[in-house]
Amino acid sequence: MMTVPFTRLSIVRGDITQIRVDAIVNAANNELCGGGGVDGAIHAAAGPELLAACRPIGGCPTGEAKITPGFRLPARYVIHTVGPVWQGGRANEPRLLASCYVASIRLAATHALTSIAFPAISTGVFGYPFESATRIALSALSDALNDAPSVRRVILMFQSAEKAALAASLLMELRQTKTPGSS
Ligand code: APR
Repeated sequence: MMTVPFTRLSIVRGDITQIRVDAIVNAANNELCGGGGVDGAIHAAAGPELLAACRPIGGCPTGEAKITPGFRLPARYVIHTVGPVWQGGRANEPRLLASCYVASIRLAATHALTSIAFPAISTGVFGYPFESATRIALSALSDALNDAPSVRRVILMFQSAEKAALAASLLMELRQTKTPGSS
């Protein structure tokens, strides 16, 4: 029986550079040259080898994902994805943001990775409104996980308790709408 994807999704408050999973996802930029926010934290924790491993990749288009080793991180791999910059919602941002999650899950499945942690892509420097970004992330992940049974554990990590609590309530809402026979 297909496990309802929601049992494979969880919400955690914490620092994504500290979690021991097969892969953590980096909210990167198109040049894969490092930066601030979670990108800066991941590069700082992984060490200089991470930037050296990104260079030959030659960048990453928005909505796509690339994989490197995790080096000094507890995570074995880093999946770098580039979210859309929020421009008011009429520049394909929802589709591009969903694509980040789908591409990252597909890449994890291709590499037989069974656990993956995501930050809230595009909701920092790129300015995507948090609630709509989280709704898109949860919906895209629940669809992507239907086609990726080998990915057993997906964690959405948030730095603040408030964001984690809001995400948890949105996940609960989605479970109720998508689980057959739910009251
Ligand atoms: N652990 C978990 N989440 C984190 C961490 C961390 N250590 N550090 C930051 N975050 C969260 C932020 O709170 C935010 O909600 O990651 C989310 C994404 O924010 P950004 O890192 O600013 O990413 P994004 O909005 O996608 O902008 C990407 O910023 O750092 C540059 O090089 C990066 O150009 C790219 C742009």
